[in-house]
Amino acid sequence: MRSVAEVREYLSRARRAGRTIGLVPTMGALHAGNISLMEKARGQCDVLAVTIFVNPLQFGPNEDYQRYPRNLERDLEACERVGVDVVFAPAFEALYVSEQKIFIEITQLADHLCGPFRPGHFRGVATVVAKLFNVIQPDTAYFGEKDYQQLCIIRKMVEDLNLPIEIVPVATYREPDGLALSSRNVYLEPEGREAAPTLFRALSSARKMIEDGEKDVAVIKESSAWILDAESHIRPEYFEIVDPVNLQPVTEIAGEVRIAGAVWIGKTRLIDNVSAVPRQGG
Ligand code: PAJ
Repeated sequence: MRSVAEVREYLSRARRAGRTIGLVPTMGALHAGNISLMEKARGQCDVLAVTIFVNPLQFGPNEDYQRYPRNLERDLEACERVGVDVVFAPAFEALYVSEQKIFIEITQLADHLCGPFRPGHFRGVATVVAKLFNVIQPDTAYFGEKDYQQLCIIRKMVEDLNLPIEIVPVATYREPDGLALSSRNVYLEPEGREAAPTLFRALSSARKMIEDGEKDVAVIKESSAWILDAESHIRPEYFEIVDPVNLQPVTEIAGEVRIAGAVWIGKTRLIDNVSAVPRQGG
């Protein structure tokens, strides 16, 4: 469906019939990672809606909005295979009817990790997700842990704005060599693709140190930096260890943390993250 009115009417009929509505928001170019969200959602709700919209608001002026991969035909086939009930794929003008002048403001949660490197990104994400929530009015919405900062921001938006929606996190889907699936992986040249799992190796190594009792974040980060620096195709952007809820950097490990990193491989930016919990009494 292309228009807000059309999708609203379809879903309001379902809602009146007492059916629950699940939503998986995406930017399309669907891969096994996004599809795993759709499959999880399919098992948990009566009506499954997927949105496909490459949201210009969340791309910086020098980012890849123009060249972002688009393939609606293939995406619709994938949705059909999973048993999605309705795909909402609006044109820009259908969602942004006139110039947008109201935005969602995020404090603290966008101060670290991707936030400083992508100014305005999470404001654009939160704003479009709020719009999509208001169009679809889902009971539950599914977000990948792959974009952990995005997941935390959406969760807090729902809490802070009293939205009656349950946010369900879905584990990161990876290639056998550890690389997290991403629509941007198609940009990688063969050597870049070979180097790409190094980010997950650095995150996993940091997690292992934490599980083994290392408390000093500086020591852990230095060790991971060695792993990343040894791979000549990789330019690290950030590698941080943060509180899993407020996303502020920690200096000493005292409980569960989130380890997150971003790297450049050529012109492609990749992100990934893992959770780490120190061993009891370690
Ligand atoms: P997109 O990058 O298309 O991702 C859609 C959803 O799939 C997000 O919730 C993302 O976290 C999840 N996802 C991506 N790769 C994954 C993987 N390897 N394993 C598990 N989940 C994965 O994220 C966005 O779109 C946009 O910012 C959006 C929320 C749609 C707002 O425009």
